[in-house]
Amino acid sequence: MPAPAPTSEVDLFDDQVLADPYPAYAALRAAGPAVRLERHGVWAVPGYAEVRTVLQDPHTYPSGGGVALTELVNAEVLAGTVLAADGDAHRRLRRVLSAQLAPRTIRRLARAVGARADRLVAEHTQGGDFDAAALARQMVAETVLSLMGLPETSWPTITGGAAATFDVFGPANARYGRALPTARAMVDFLLTTVTRAQVTEGSWMHAIFRAVDAGQLQEAEAVPLASAYTAASMDTTILGLTETLYQLARHATQWDRLRRTPSLAEAAFHEALRLEAPVQGFGRMVARTTALGDVRIEAGEQVWLLYGSTGRDRRTWGPRADRYDIARTGAHQHLAFGAGPHLCAGIPLALLQAGAVLRALAARCPQLATAGKPTRTVNNVLRGWTRVPLRAELSWYLPPTATAPGKKAPR
Ligand code: HEM
Repeated sequence: MPAPAPTSEVDLFDDQVLADPYPAYAALRAAGPAVRLERHGVWAVPGYAEVRTVLQDPHTYPSGGGVALTELVNAEVLAGTVLAADGDAHRRLRRVLSAQLAPRTIRRLARAVGARADRLVAEHTQGGDFDAAALARQMVAETVLSLMGLPETSWPTITGGAAATFDVFGPANARYGRALPTARAMVDFLLTTVTRAQVTEGSWMHAIFRAVDAGQLQEAEAVPLASAYTAASMDTTILGLTETLYQLARHATQWDRLRRTPSLAEAAFHEALRLEAPVQGFGRMVARTTALGDVRIEAGEQVWLLYGSTGRDRRTWGPRADRYDIARTGAHQHLAFGAGPHLCAGIPLALLQAGAVLRALAARCPQLATAGKPTRTVNNVLRGWTRVPLRAELSWYLPPTATAPGKKAPR
């Protein structure tokens, strides 16, 4: 007789579990390759190897109808988006985004993004104390809004809507209920704002309309595709960059290492994503009866992939999986960006922004330290900080590029 399937009563979306999910993740990894979550009616997949297997097998585990935990969100919010599309439909939508987000296209932004990072780091750190989350938010807001081609006045609707969109990927709990109207408002806003007359020439949104005009997309597909930019590109990068700054401020030896070798900036960002994935989990449908390890999963069920747990899996990362180490070999192979056909399309842009901020800060600040208790973001799917007070000790010599506009570098 096969062993009974492992089950768990844990509520992964309870406030206390969200505050520190790692003991629950460790218990799930110990319980089996897939564990039935009785409260959510879904299979948790907590291990690195198994999550990777699922992500790379979209025929068995399609995204359509399975990315969010509720049928309503899969049908109303996600239908028609690149995230929830499969096969040819997915390839067609992704092609439009790829042209804008490809490494070659993003490299052309390097000078402008670097100058923005220098300016913002100088402005935020000039008094010594600063909020890492505020710095990250302003960096990403300025970069992404101008690329999207939307007016600055759209910022509150878009940021509020993006966080709410991630909340509604979770189960129908109170947080989901509060977020649903905000997530819907963002889609309504996009429907009225993302028009040919409103968007800037040459922007991401403009490229979507060009694809419609060229017959690559239907008119009705334009706004769902635009929502991939607005929901996916902001909070993820803001939370990832804020976490990196927090980890570096908590670990003086890692900060010294980055200062001595600024080319480690991207590795420092990857390592923070491995340790604290901004997107903790997403789902997939099960299209045909299958098995993960010795656990049988029936067609029609759903799996919940715990990206946040995979980064702590000792079978992959060894006994020091819980440590932050910017020199860790292979840290970039974490699953915080997903894997397989839905691998994050925005990796080059996220790395460019994070690398620019970390290098600008490393050039200015010999020492970085925490300066108070941070405030956690509480969201069904996102993990990170809303506020992180830090203290930067400024260098007696500030490189000219890292000087605030209108100020002279001290001699
Ligand atoms: C630290 C920053 C980021 C993180 C942690 C992150 C995380 C992720 C994850 C986990 C997925 C996979 C979803 C799945 O498995 O179904 C994804 C997909 C995606 N991301 Fe990111 N992301 C980040 C930044 C960005 C940026 C800057 C953009 C720019 C527009 C972006 C655009 C996308 C898009 C369009 C998809 C959907 C890809 C598809 O379905 O084919 N992301 N991201």
